[in-house]
Amino acid sequence: MLVLGIESSCDECAAAVVQDGRLVRSTQVATQISIHAPYGGVVPELASRDHLRRISLIIAGAVEKAGIEISGLDAIAVTCGPGLQGSLLIGTMAARTLAWALGCPLVGVNHLEAHLHAAFLEQKQPQYPFLGLVVSGGHTSLFEVRGVGRLKLLGRTLDDAAGEALDKVAKLLGLPYPGGVWIERQAAGGNPDAVPFPRPMRGRGLDFSFSGLKTAACQAVRNRGAPQGQDLSDFAASFQKCVVETLVAKTITALKKHRLARLVVAGGVAANRLLRERMSQEAKAAGAEIFIPALSLCTDNAAMVAALGQAYLQAGRSSSPFELDADASLPWNAISL
Ligand code: KG4
Ligand code: ZN
Repeated sequence: MLVLGIESSCDECAAAVVQDGRLVRSTQVATQISIHAPYGGVVPELASRDHLRRISLIIAGAVEKAGIEISGLDAIAVTCGPGLQGSLLIGTMAARTLAWALGCPLVGVNHLEAHLHAAFLEQKQPQYPFLGLVVSGGHTSLFEVRGVGRLKLLGRTLDDAAGEALDKVAKLLGLPYPGGVWIERQAAGGNPDAVPFPRPMRGRGLDFSFSGLKTAACQAVRNRGAPQGQDLSDFAASFQKCVVETLVAKTITALKKHRLARLVVAGGVAANRLLRERMSQEAKAAGAEIFIPALSLCTDNAAMVAALGQAYLQAGRSSSPFELDADASLPWNAISL
């Protein structure tokens, strides 16, 4: 079965063809980094306009790279939320139109669940149940995942997402967008213990909070001026370490508390090398098996959408091309089985 996945929830316009929910036949991602870079963050209006310009070509490119005709598609899966409403509308409208024209099944999926499902595109697949940490620009959430569409929220950020904090602090430091990537680059060669940032929400259940940490970083810059040279590397390394330690500590607590033996870490921030290393070490020490998708499957992509779409279709779920709606604040449990 060949499923076309479409992803346009934020600033990546992506399409992919996945065979049988496992084999990525093609994956196309058009990033909008250069469009949003001058503003230090995603400008929703510019994002949706660019999706509109590119989506047809991205879809055509994914179909061509898969070596098939568009009529060879068996189904279409699309992210219908959460995300930016204007951006989501472009992807969902493209998916609805195509499904109607081809007369093939259509299925809408949740972006957060799709991030976690990226783990199923790797050689070694997780088994249910597992603990899932989605850590991205818009979300920092811990789920107990019992099966496809069967997620239980265990904890989430009460304010900023981890990626959002990284992006905002990077902007403050004069680093380019997207900030998480540049904080990581700048942190290389820095002393991670140079700046004593507070460890947020330690011991306060499984919820996260990153806004206090962000404020501490702002105050440090205000008091001492924007760091330069080695000081900048030290600052970035210390900030990165603090974010990573916070994510790792809560996740390991959740593993133990809920007695889960497997952990999946996904979303854009899961591309961070320090997070991957530290999480792997700590999960192993806690006796859990860890699954972190390859870097290109951590950041926004459509292969994860196609793979999850296939799982939903197999479970007998599909959406009407006349009714599928984009929902900017789609709850994590709105699509369940
Ligand atoms: O999943 P994603 O591509 O889009 C959302 O759904 O939000 O995540 C984007 C986030 C941004 O905040 C970006 O700064 C962060 O992921 N990110 C990273 C790295 N690569 C992307 N953060 C830390 N280290 C990285 N290597
Ligand atoms: Zn994402």
